[in-house]
Amino acid sequence: MTNPRIVVTGKIPEPGVEVLNTIGEVWAWTDDEPIPHDIRDERLATADAAVTLLTDTVDEAFLDAAPQLKIVANVAVGYNNIDVGLCQARGVTVTNTPGVLTDATADLAMGLLLMVTRRLGEGERLIRSETPWKWGMFMMLGTGLQGRQLGIIGMGGIGQALAQRARAFGMQIVYHNRSAVAPDIEAALDARRCNLDELLATSDVVSLNCPYSEETHHLIDAYALSAMRNDAVLVNTARGPIVDEGALVEALSNGEIGAVALDVFEHEPKVHPGLLGLDNAVLVPHLGSATVETRTAMATLAARNVVGFFGGSGPATPVT
Ligand code: GLV
Repeated sequence: MTNPRIVVTGKIPEPGVEVLNTIGEVWAWTDDEPIPHDIRDERLATADAAVTLLTDTVDEAFLDAAPQLKIVANVAVGYNNIDVGLCQARGVTVTNTPGVLTDATADLAMGLLLMVTRRLGEGERLIRSETPWKWGMFMMLGTGLQGRQLGIIGMGGIGQALAQRARAFGMQIVYHNRSAVAPDIEAALDARRCNLDELLATSDVVSLNCPYSEETHHLIDAYALSAMRNDAVLVNTARGPIVDEGALVEALSNGEIGAVALDVFEHEPKVHPGLLGLDNAVLVPHLGSATVETRTAMATLAARNVVGFFGGSGPATPVT
């Protein structure tokens, strides 16, 4: 197809727009605020392609507004914001951006793990509140990582990259995944696959690195939290609704688990008010892929998917 009409529904790094400009007529929303639905729908009316962000909901209303749409290129690895089944039923190809954000997200997970186990958020808050303090032998003691067990739920690229980092900190790895990872990767990471119950009951740190789906909705609920050790730490850099946030607040308040570090929230961007006052909760605003290089690579990959689709070679990273 020559000169497809491409709608970019949110602000993306310029190199992505430049790639799109090579093949089509691009209209991009460039405001920091989300695109109002009436403007979006007006643009979608004649769109052949939509480049979307994880904050867009690609549902029936979106697709109804876009009768000519052929491809939705999500600038995210997660695509739970897209009704993939409905897209497929309407002949609309969906793509995502796996791979390019693996390191950035694993770095963030490792950073959160260190923050929460060494109480760095609390330390920051203490200094910034100008509370008088002096060095103390027993002041703000955390726990080390050497010899501790990290239980990774979801052993795809990001889970494996986190395992690699955690190994460098001396942690032992167990993981829970639908299928076993390749034996050479298991061996290199000295990682052992186990069932969810064992992982929850025995891990010092539980990290969520699985996709969000109906299957993983509230995977970490009151029951799962009660199965964890009382001093265990939970880290979530995947998707908020994998955790029942209400149950999490209860578990943290009642000492059923030790601490949590969250990059994502059940009702993002809202954060459960019960978390805000808890010193054993580290909270950051969905920064997993937030580096200049990574966001540029994500935008460029999404754009290349559109170019590949219309150029005939096919998108590099389709969702199947
Ligand atoms: C970020 O959360 C992503 O899915 O890319």
